[in-house]
Amino acid sequence: MDAIAELVALLSPKRVLTAAADLEHYGRDWTRWWTPAPRAIALPESIAEVQAIVHWAIAHHVAIVPSGGRTGLSGGAVAAHGELVVSFERMHRILGFDPLDRTLTVEAGVVTEAVQNAAREHGLMYPVDFGSRGSSQIGGNIATNAGGIRVIRFGMTRAWVAGLKVVTGNGELLDLNRGLVKNATGYDLRHLMIGSEGTLGLIVEATLQLTDPPRDPQVMLLAVPALAAVMQLLTLMRERLPLNAFEFFTDVALKHVLAHGGKRPFEAESPCYVLLEYENRDAGTETAALEAFEQAMQQGLLTDGVMAQSEVQARELWRFREGITESIAQYTPYKNDVSVRVSKVPEFLAGMDALFAREYPDFEVVWFGHVGDGNLHISVLKPEAMTKADFELACGRVTDHLCDVLARHGGSISAEHGVGLLKKPYLSRVRSVAEIALMRQLKHVFDPHGILNPGKLLDA
Ligand code: LAC
Ligand code: ZN
Repeated sequence: MDAIAELVALLSPKRVLTAAADLEHYGRDWTRWWTPAPRAIALPESIAEVQAIVHWAIAHHVAIVPSGGRTGLSGGAVAAHGELVVSFERMHRILGFDPLDRTLTVEAGVVTEAVQNAAREHGLMYPVDFGSRGSSQIGGNIATNAGGIRVIRFGMTRAWVAGLKVVTGNGELLDLNRGLVKNATGYDLRHLMIGSEGTLGLIVEATLQLTDPPRDPQVMLLAVPALAAVMQLLTLMRERLPLNAFEFFTDVALKHVLAHGGKRPFEAESPCYVLLEYENRDAGTETAALEAFEQAMQQGLLTDGVMAQSEVQARELWRFREGITESIAQYTPYKNDVSVRVSKVPEFLAGMDALFAREYPDFEVVWFGHVGDGNLHISVLKPEAMTKADFELACGRVTDHLCDVLARHGGSISAEHGVGLLKKPYLSRVRSVAEIALMRQLKHVFDPHGILNPGKLLDA
């Protein structure tokens, strides 16, 4: 029996896909830099099937690419070399809710928004949130330690994983931390798995910590006269308001969103905008918000502002920020997802702005991001006349410069999108030789046969 026939026998004919359209669909993520070329797609429905697939892969020396909603932006879920894509889309059951623990236990393929909705049905909140919530899956969120728009208040995915079931590259099932709040029994392998991008294990199940939703969230969009004012505005607002989010984008970004619909939020154009959300705790918060707004206006940190008067309007304002990624997708953007300590953002922003203007005057650069936590998305758009190959070369040079600046500031080349294939060439610029050597050794411990997402994060 050949390898694929064996796989079909393990699963079923309809859960092993080999049609060209399926290979293309499941072989790529939101990056469009690599041509998908997997060998087949497996759709397991249970942990035992995932283990059987791993044993099959070991026996046949086939690499596995774990696959969630494939909304990743670093090529972590790309299968371009005859791998087996293991899609978790059929492992999408919500297994249980515990009101005392305030946890939700889910299979890896549950869509992020379904987790959020399930939490809401119990009067609670799963607070990790981002634009791709309707397609991304919790397993992928955990594998990349997804961040998003409310990190300033709630932290990254890591903070919300109370338990994790993982299948290693040996096919063993690990049941990590089991939902415990306190567990002082040595190395916490759960945290090693979070953010490992499918290179150490296949995440099959998670127990997620839930929390109380913030009361009465209020959304403001502010027109800010200069990049340099953004962080001063953060300091001022943060002192006075319980912030849930503090996001920024430039007018270049706004124009792309508006090209897909919607009305300009302010009459006059402004170089940049800040979208902030805060928790309206009581009448005192409302007064504080008005005072903060006026003070910022007096200090010249903003020139205009609008406060959402309804949930519908709040969603419209959020769309200006959340719609950016989709609105620029058609321009083959090269995405930089960098972070520095929040205190270094002003210096970093000024340095980068000058660098891009000087070195890359022909590129349209779209700036936005989660400045409240030190994370900037700098997307470089391909000029129409430039070939993809020339663009790739040029972007490599941009990233090289970026790495120099990041190294000077102690920053990171990937804040929340992961390393995958896209940022792998730059890993050594932000992690030490000793760190990378240890990462390699860890990879070998959990994946001795080298079958788990090889070539992602680290060279195979
Ligand atoms: C965002 C994605 C690109 O922040 O991370 O919109
Ligand atoms: Zn982001």
